[in-house]
Amino acid sequence: MAIILGIESSCDDTSASIVKDGNVLSNIVCSQAIHQKYGGVVPELASRAHEKNIIPTISEALKSASVSLSEINAISFTQGPGLLGSLLVGNCFAKGIAMAQKIPLISVNHIEAHINAHFIEDVKPTFPFLCLTVSGGHTQIICVEGFGKYKLLGETLDDAIGEAFDKSAKLLGLPYPGGPLLDKMAQLGNFKKYEFPIPEIKNYDFSFSGIKTSILNFLQNNTRNNPDFIAQNLNDICASIQYTLIKIVMRKLKKASQEFNIKTIAIAGGVAANSELRSKIQFEVQLSNWEVFIPKFEYCTDNAAMIAITGYYKFLNNDFADLSSVPNPRLEMKVIK
Ligand code: KG4
Ligand code: ZN
Repeated sequence: MAIILGIESSCDDTSASIVKDGNVLSNIVCSQAIHQKYGGVVPELASRAHEKNIIPTISEALKSASVSLSEINAISFTQGPGLLGSLLVGNCFAKGIAMAQKIPLISVNHIEAHINAHFIEDVKPTFPFLCLTVSGGHTQIICVEGFGKYKLLGETLDDAIGEAFDKSAKLLGLPYPGGPLLDKMAQLGNFKKYEFPIPEIKNYDFSFSGIKTSILNFLQNNTRNNPDFIAQNLNDICASIQYTLIKIVMRKLKKASQEFNIKTIAIAGGVAANSELRSKIQFEVQLSNWEVFIPKFEYCTDNAAMIAITGYYKFLNNDFADLSSVPNPRLEMKVIK
């Protein structure tokens, strides 16, 4: 029997989770509202909020799982990638508990954990599968050949897709994080009304910075003649932007599925909630026989359950970290070539 405590603190959510023998007993997420008024995450404020939130969040995770600290067999934490100050809070706290309780420490890569969120649910994808990770910090397509066996097919060369959603929403005057709001408005609009360019990037890599510039130019040109242009056409602009952003990732995902002949598709990250992405994926389920896995939304966005489940598998493999381990904001995932 193994009970793992997982801690996630890579960005602006403080989260703690208890996993027992591969089953999630609790997953507490404390989001930081403080960043809203700045229109984006302020790293220094994030680390201070983590410091304030981490003890109550862990206490709540233990309480709602009906587990005491002395029953924990190992503690896993996010080592990176992420914001250094934020990672440091989780790392120091995890080391403190490991030392005090004399239990092993397990370091977890945040991106690998997003992929492993698919092993939380009872019905798990079978290997090999393609995992599209789409969040505020990451956009990549990975071929998952086994647990810990990842082949990176492509990733973003600049902004992540969630970032592109949030920045577009900001240009339209929507509050941060604008992705979900943009999605809501897009559902009421006409996606054919405006056209934005699809970048031609080789292989399976992505780029979202060009579209951001073209949206900015488009808005500047149109508001010059009509200051109310955005307000009058908001739903159509949102629909056209959303259509373009999702088309960029779907094109590559379909290409990868065809080239590698893999029809088991897993989607991870906060943008998995997007209605256009979901409808395009559903279309492929019917058209191309895709078998699609999207975790429950609480396991798509940043959460500690994915850190604890990864910790659980590493625990079974005796894959432990040293007490001298430090956070790494640019931690790379170990991939096979
Ligand atoms: O995975 P996540 O919670 O955090 C990161 O690891 O970044 O993803 C958050 C991102 C934000 O950029 C947010 O705007 C975006 O996911 N997002 C959405 C939707 N829901 C969340 N973007 C588009 N449509 C949505 N429905
Ligand atoms: Zn994430």
